Amino acid sequence: MSPFVLTRALPLDATAAALRADVSAGLTRTPKELPPKWFYDARGSELFDEITLLPEYYPTRAEREILVDRSGDIARATGARTLVELGSGSSEKTRHLIRALPALDTYVPVDVSESALRGAAQTLLAEHPDLSVHALVADFQYGLALPETPGPRLLAFLGGTIGNLLPDERAVFFRALRAALAPGDALLLGTDLVKDERTLVAAYDDAQGVTAAFNKNVLTVINRELEADFDPDDFGHVALWDARHEWIEMRLRARRDVVVKIPSLDLAVSFSAGEDLRTEVSAKFRREGVRAELASAGLDLTHWWTDEQGRFALSLSVPASLPL
Ligand code: SAH
Ligand code: TRP
Repeated sequence: MSPFVLTRALPLDATAAALRADVSAGLTRTPKELPPKWFYDARGSELFDEITLLPEYYPTRAEREILVDRSGDIARATGARTLVELGSGSSEKTRHLIRALPALDTYVPVDVSESALRGAAQTLLAEHPDLSVHALVADFQYGLALPETPGPRLLAFLGGTIGNLLPDERAVFFRALRAALAPGDALLLGTDLVKDERTLVAAYDDAQGVTAAFNKNVLTVINRELEADFDPDDFGHVALWDARHEWIEMRLRARRDVVVKIPSLDLAVSFSAGEDLRTEVSAKFRREGVRAELASAGLDLTHWWTDEQGRFALSLSVPASLPL
């Protein structure tokens, strides 16, 4: 039997319908807004991998440092036989965890990007020919239908991607994760931490303009999939720190008055010069906030590890023994 299986929980036509719905709702409301998952076509996944190598983008290096230092502790605390990873992308940092889990039998990477899943599986199987890899093309926010695999399960959500969900969405999402965990399973969560504004903004507005290209990639996706006529040069990349919400906001700002035609939606969208389209938030966390959000979903925080500089945290939590 082949150790690699890929399941598409998202039929292609459902993806197309979701994009149409998100674009028509998001571009006709005020302020204009798009959900972040549409960045990640094959090109978007490549650009994100380039972001992780930028000198300004510290979260990847900080989280890798924690994984390298703490994988042994994580292995002892969980004894995981299945590792499920949500938003796994290239699975690049996950390799440190996989190497350190002696009982690991099955890896289930879950991502909207099929190209990222295929690339990651190829690299991992070269290093671990005996590992079963069951990749799932799915939206982690909607109905996690995980394959039957041996327990205990460790559910990993790395990269600070949790910060890309709004607080209400996080509450729903954590409850769904709690429901997917059996006694003995655990959640490994990566959260970027609140720090000085300069460091934060630079991480989302690098000197080489890779993040700007990544942000604008969502326009290219809409052009291709919905036959829209966005000219990416009509928009500038904006990253700003919202101190009240403690999140970074990524926006695309119209450089002039622009009218975009989206014939497949029978829609013309007007932007006035200076108008913003919000493409993503990236919330930053504090220990007490993470503990409280997890507790409200029935999850007990058992471990909290940071990198040497205290920029990023990995936490481990387990289903609370008392039901909610
Ligand atoms: N975990 C990797 C990648 C983080 S980037 C790391 O830490 O470097 C976020 C990843 O989540 C991308 O691979 C993207 O394709 C995926 N993603 C974003 N929204 C998603 C959604 N709603 N459902 C599933 N995957 C999603
Ligand atoms: N999860 C990553 C983060 O919040 C995603 C990301 C990094 C991102 N840089 C970006 C998303 C730039 C949009 C634009 O750090």
